[in-house]
Amino acid sequence: MIQLGFMASGRGSNVHAILSECLDGTIDARGGVIISNHADAGVHLVADDFDVPSVHIARDQFSTGDAFAAKLHSTFVENNVDLILLAGYMRKVPPMLIRAWQGKMLNIHPALLPKHGGKGMYGLKVHEAVLNCGDSETGVTIHFVDEEYDRGPILFQHGGVMVEKSDTPETLAEKVLKVEHLAYTKAVSRWIERYSGK
Ligand code: GAR
Repeated sequence: MIQLGFMASGRGSNVHAILSECLDGTIDARGGVIISNHADAGVHLVADDFDVPSVHIARDQFSTGDAFAAKLHSTFVENNVDLILLAGYMRKVPPMLIRAWQGKMLNIHPALLPKHGGKGMYGLKVHEAVLNCGDSETGVTIHFVDEEYDRGPILFQHGGVMVEKSDTPETLAEKVLKVEHLAYTKAVSRWIERYSGK
């Protein structure tokens, strides 16, 4: 059984969904550690609920980017993590960490990449862009993380979230989030089947 590591900045509903599926056996994995860049992020409470260790590690605690990356890396290694999941992590992931975990780090993006991705495209900004473009459909993408924002190979994509005239960024975010929870768990299972060797 593989062990999952998470990086999250906010409430952690995707972390919650994935850990629930681990508990009921839908995903053949268990939580290893959760890292957040915010000490008061809701995701720490999710960690407590599931009895998974969580740690606050932020760039400003370190004098260099390399020291920050090294701490993130050693935290995942010490907790026997096989796969890192970015789940609403709103800061730049240090390139050193991305290189060390190539093929073993996934991100969820709340739109159909390659549209509406890139630097600065996160949270409600993504849904605003979908509305501004007049897209009739949106969805969610889970992709491998590489050094370019939102450009790594796609592992799983789920469209079919219809954009209505009455939608606002907030209502769209809510509709997409429901699909995210299903899609991220499917993507993790797909990664385990194809790449874990377990
Ligand atoms: C999710 O909608 C996720 O797709 C988005 O942040 C939210 C986190 O929610 N991520 C990005 O926009 C990254 N570019 P959660 O804390 O409830 O899982």
